[in-house]
Amino acid sequence: MTHPESPVQPARDQEIAQFRAILRSNDRGGYAVPSSRLYPFQWNWDAAINAVGWQTFDEDRAWQEVESLLAGQWDNGMVPSIVFHKPAQSYFPGPQEWGCDDRQPPTTSISQPPVLATMVRRMRARSVDPAVDARLAPIVARLVRWHRWWHRDRDPLHTGLVVTYHPWETGSDNSPAWDEPLKAVPPTARAYQRRDTGVVDGSMRPHKAEYDRFVYLVDFFRDCGFDARKIYDGSPFRIVDFALNAILLRADADLAVLCDDLGMRDEAGELRACHARSLAAIDSLWCDALGRHVSLDTRNGRRLEQHTHAAYLAWYANLFQRAGGTARSAALQGGLEDLLQSTRFGLASTHPRDPGFDPRRYWRGSVWPHINWLVAEGLSEQGLPVAARRLRDDTLALVRAAGPFEYFSPDSGEGLGGPDFSWTASIALILLAGSGSGVSQGAACA
Ligand code: DGY
Repeated sequence: MTHPESPVQPARDQEIAQFRAILRSNDRGGYAVPSSRLYPFQWNWDAAINAVGWQTFDEDRAWQEVESLLAGQWDNGMVPSIVFHKPAQSYFPGPQEWGCDDRQPPTTSISQPPVLATMVRRMRARSVDPAVDARLAPIVARLVRWHRWWHRDRDPLHTGLVVTYHPWETGSDNSPAWDEPLKAVPPTARAYQRRDTGVVDGSMRPHKAEYDRFVYLVDFFRDCGFDARKIYDGSPFRIVDFALNAILLRADADLAVLCDDLGMRDEAGELRACHARSLAAIDSLWCDALGRHVSLDTRNGRRLEQHTHAAYLAWYANLFQRAGGTARSAALQGGLEDLLQSTRFGLASTHPRDPGFDPRRYWRGSVWPHINWLVAEGLSEQGLPVAARRLRDDTLALVRAAGPFEYFSPDSGEGLGGPDFSWTASIALILLAGSGSGVSQGAACA
């Protein structure tokens, strides 16, 4: 493994060629695996980010990435966290464990943070294909069905906030924010064999105690026959993740604009109604004393107040437009400054002051390029370019020095997790192509 001080920066063209080559080598025919041995299938939010990466040099391939993911959509609208397009042995749990091996293609039974509509809107804005809207129509129709699923199956009481049942669904699998709620999940009593720790060092991955609970939940969903109401009522893990809700809010607004652009007026109206309800509801997650939004354990009403990256997605979700928003944004900037100053490279996924902080272990402190980018996009859109630049610069510095790893130590800059990682290469390509989302939030939320 290399460290940030060591290598000389290669020329830009050479760098771009290197990152494109990673996407090409991870391409399995219409979809890219995140990292060949650690994650040998197509992941949901990885695919969304990778589509934007592909678009920097191959637009047709970019749309294929989206179409391949959506081929795994369930009849109820859910777009799964993993689509198991082709069998592979190096990953656990596979489609049989999920109880979804008879589906075509096989999938998991949970979803992942819905960044896709926002990425699709961005891709349309940058498309050079004159026939792009014809290709987009079925994609947008599927996105609408997915968003409906979130608001219907994951918010059956119409609170305006959606719940998640598995840390894998949040994307930030072993965040210290989930430590307390996970205590309510019994460890599985059955034997299973992890594959991840055979591929990367165990010190970079979640502990066995967490995996025992991850596996319990996978079995629980299968044993409930994937019945939405049974799972809502019975899941021992049922949280409102601020990050996922912020991402959905933003995506609802972006999808409404896409619907308008494609003449889907009713769907646009429906999404704007969801957006307005969620925007009002997410206010309840703001904590004045902390100066940031927090997540919620809906089984006991407890707030999950750990200082993680999640809070800084508030700008991306455009949450500070209402009365009092300026003061809240200023408070959040203070938190961001503190978090950035507390490590050498930003943005640590957990504040070093948190007792759960671990700079090397997955979501317990390491820096994630795609999170840096999403947060930076929000900062830029809200007129905070200095912090945005810091995140973009840190991201490129880490990737250049250590290589396109899955995540990085915020202290040493060491590259961690899977090597030759697709969305890290995609983020590098996006940053090298220039910043700016190419979409305006004002228009999205008008
Ligand atoms: C894993 O296996 O680590 C993934 O994050 C699950 O989606």
